[in-house]
Amino acid sequence: MSDSDLIAAARKARRHARAEFSRFKVGAALEVVDGTIVTGCNIENATYGLTMCAERVAMFKALSEGHRRFRRIAIVADTQAATPPCGPCRQILWEFGADLEVILANLRRETGRHRLSDLLPLPFDGRLLK
Ligand code: THU
Repeated sequence: MSDSDLIAAARKARRHARAEFSRFKVGAALEVVDGTIVTGCNIENATYGLTMCAERVAMFKALSEGHRRFRRIAIVADTQAATPPCGPCRQILWEFGADLEVILANLRRETGRHRLSDLLPLPFDGRLLK
């Protein structure tokens, strides 16, 4: 799948966002090593604090379907500047997705491209618990 197809999948997923409180809709498309694409959108609720970001929805969906190794994630929001993943999402993506390529885009164009290890230097992970 091309980068633009992955971004298109994230844009499409974004349309399902449940962002009644912030009005800030985000979509994500996670590529599994076998080429499968698993999408997610942010889901807010009335207590606010239980909000789940698009990236974690995509990762938890993928894990729950048995996927274990990932290549890239595209993240889309309707902002001029890049919308990078929040801290908790960086942690979850690192622990379950390793050094993913993170492609950021808005509704019109790509806005950035990073390795997850650059977004989360000096990570805490399970290797330290052994
Ligand atoms: N959000 C995401 O889904 N992903 C991000 O990378 C940034 C923030 C969501 C959480 C909340 O529903 C809304 O965007 C505003 O923070």
